Amino acid sequence: RVVYVNGRYVPYRDASVHVEDRGFQFADGVYEVCEVRNGRIIDESRHLARMRRSLKELSISFPMADAALRLVMGETLRRNRVRNGLVYLQVTRGAAKREFTFPDPDAVAPTLVVIARSVDPAIGEAVAQAGIRIVSVPENRWARVDIKTIGLLPNVLAKMAAKTAGAREAWFVDRDGFVTEGGSSNAWIIVGDALVTRHAEHGILRGVTRTTLLDLIAIEGLRFEERQFTIDEAKTAREAFVTSATTILTPVVQIDDTPVGDGKPGDIVLRLRQRFHDIAE
Ligand code: PDD
Repeated sequence: RVVYVNGRYVPYRDASVHVEDRGFQFADGVYEVCEVRNGRIIDESRHLARMRRSLKELSISFPMADAALRLVMGETLRRNRVRNGLVYLQVTRGAAKREFTFPDPDAVAPTLVVIARSVDPAIGEAVAQAGIRIVSVPENRWARVDIKTIGLLPNVLAKMAAKTAGAREAWFVDRDGFVTEGGSSNAWIIVGDALVTRHAEHGILRGVTRTTLLDLIAIEGLRFEERQFTIDEAKTAREAFVTSATTILTPVVQIDDTPVGDGKPGDIVLRLRQRFHDIAE
């Protein structure tokens, strides 16, 4: 196995970045996770566009042109013989003497890491067929969760709380009882015949899977409501599910101690999951 680090493909066990990398000291960096399916990177353009936006919001220079980065991603997949799995991109502001303020951009280069990993798609499919449990946790993240930064400690703690409770994902709930999103996914419910998810302008990451699902919802002529919903509404919803590059669409069958619907994966979410890769680019 090899990983790409700053212009070189190096053996996995030897790969390293500097101890004064600002990603390590300040979580001063961004990342993307893309699904790889049958050798294809799903929604690659949308992921690259979002990474560009994250970098711009943090005034980190983009390490290379999109076309070059696509080549690196493809080559990393090829060298690791990944046909199904994921590709992880991370860019940090680079290594510099520890100071809070940005180093001179002419004096540091951003650190770029690309890691590819095989994952058997049958695993995710089995999880989706069984459905997952969610625990609710208080929203305690910063206000710029629209930027996909590597500062993920609240997400780590939330997902750890979920795991301890025997659940697979945590949903952050704000002080007014509204669900923002999952620890590493967007949150959805189905009420009546409408698919409901929070508007992406506030308090969540604009998921690429969410965006592509909106395309699918339009193609299928389904009803969509972009609005916030409370954790109590979610518990009484007909169906609930999460979206992300790693889960695609995965049904939620229980929230805290309450079964969702009849406690089995919903028909609508399972059908949309089957259709998702027909329309994703
Ligand atoms: N997480 N919200 C959060 C907080 C996320 O971390 C993610 C993705 C999403 C869904 O975004 P997308 O559909 O573009 O994957 C929403 C990735 C998978 C991760 O951190 O592993």
